[in-house]
Amino acid sequence: MHVEAIRAAVDLRGARPHQFEQRFLERAAADVVLETAHRGERFGIRLAVVDRRSHSFLRVNRRDPLHCRSGQRSIRKSGKTLWGNHDGESEGVAGARIALVSERNELRVETSAEPRAEVRVEVREFRDLYENAPCGYHSVAPDGTILQMNRTELRWLGFSRRELVGARPFVSTLSPRCSRRYLRAFHTLRDGAARAGLQAEFVRKDGSVFPASLDIAALRDADGGFVATQATVIDLSERRRAEDEARRLAARLRTMSRRTVDAQECERRRLSTELHDRIGQDLAAANLDLHLIKDELPGSLRALVAARLDDAIARIEATAECVRDVAGALRPPVLDAYGLAVSLRTCAEQFAARTGIRVVVDARSGSGRGDARAETALYRVCQEALTNVLRHAGAHEVRISLHRNDAEVRLSVADDGCGFDSGEAGAAEHEGLGILGMRERMLAVGGELIVESARGAGTRIVARAPGR
Ligand SMILES: Nc1ncnc2c1ncn2[C@@H]1O[C@H](COP(=O)(O)OP(=O)(O)OP(=O)(O)O)[C@@H](O)[C@H]1O
Ligand SMILES: [Mg+2]
Repeated sequence: MHVEAIRAAVDLRGARPHQFEQRFLERAAADVVLETAHRGERFGIRLAVVDRRSHSFLRVNRRDPLHCRSGQRSIRKSGKTLWGNHDGESEGVAGARIALVSERNELRVETSAEPRAEVRVEVREFRDLYENAPCGYHSVAPDGTILQMNRTELRWLGFSRRELVGARPFVSTLSPRCSRRYLRAFHTLRDGAARAGLQAEFVRKDGSVFPASLDIAALRDADGGFVATQATVIDLSERRRAEDEARRLAARLRTMSRRTVDAQECERRRLSTELHDRIGQDLAAANLDLHLIKDELPGSLRALVAARLDDAIARIEATAECVRDVAGALRPPVLDAYGLAVSLRTCAEQFAARTGIRVVVDARSGSGRGDARAETALYRVCQEALTNVLRHAGAHEVRISLHRNDAEVRLSVADDGCGFDSGEAGAAEHEGLGILGMRERMLAVGGELIVESARGAGTRIVARAPGR
């Protein structure tokens, strides 16, 4: 409605322009459109709140042609009642023609205004922005009917404007399992809430569905009466697709990582067996042969080669020992035979003997055996954590603890060394292959790895695997 129309009407009512604009415009939606319109016409009336900041600028119109006629009783400032007809015809937002005709006291004011060129452009731009926004917009009347819907949302739903606007309740565009949630939100808005947000499943005309988020605001008149809702709709199909894809890729990565870990373990087991059963046995046989040769050599010859033979025997024994160590590290035989607790103790003893660093182990072996893959993963974590202690910590003591309950198996390796910054910023910079490998191993068995460390405060590696 044009301001001039309002000014002209102001005299008729005896109110000051700003009071009139406020009262007239803010009440127009509830009084003129929804109350004075004939019941049968209500569905055909569209109401658009164009700019709430500038006096709730309202446009009232019926189905094409855009036109609305209604009678209204107004109260003059003097207290007298004024009966009038509002005859509004929309010619674009700023070019509306308003006629107020007083029936009782024969007053008649008729105004019309041509929209200025620049206003027309603004209106076109605004309309284009509203209709073709990348999100959906719609308004819903207190009885649930769709009052307005932009082109974007109509396109998403596959309906024509005529099929939806003024013709169907908004809730009919939602899937049955979401409609109750929507109605609950709608009622809270009607009962006084300012905003509501929800995610819902929309149903297209062809029956297909898409997910969307709804941000709904309640529009109220000057007295706080509920006039309509205004909602912004964001299509979540793309986001859901991207989330599904990310989940799928993460699951694939996890599977690949688990297969890599399994393949690595399998290869280690093969190498360990090869070292132990073939090279180890061959070395033992060679050692035995050398002892036999030494024993059977005639006295004169023995004096000549005994020292060399002893040297070769010592070297073979050292190599056999070394092969045993490597084979044991590749796949500790105790892990298969006696389980994790015993293996950790053995590993700790070997580490202490090799490095001189004190190791305290709290791992009860009587608490049963867990899942073999999880036990292997925990054992490998302990091995890598001890390697890190030796390489980086400068520690005097390491504490290893293993606790098991129905829900989980929890391994902790804590040292009293120099520590490092394991916080958010520091983690990526510090994470080498060792910590990454530990993390991957634990994730592959459905567990997790936690690194707790701070400079000067030691390091604790906690690995948790699900219980049986
Ligand atoms: N117990 C520890 N005490 C002090 N610093 C540690 C400890 N464990 C790890 N760090 C720090 O974290 C970094 C990453 O450890 P990570 O095991 O991932 O890699 P790395 O040991 O450097 O190399 P690698 O890939 O051979 O294991 C180390 O370089 C070190 O700075
Ligand atoms: Mg390391």
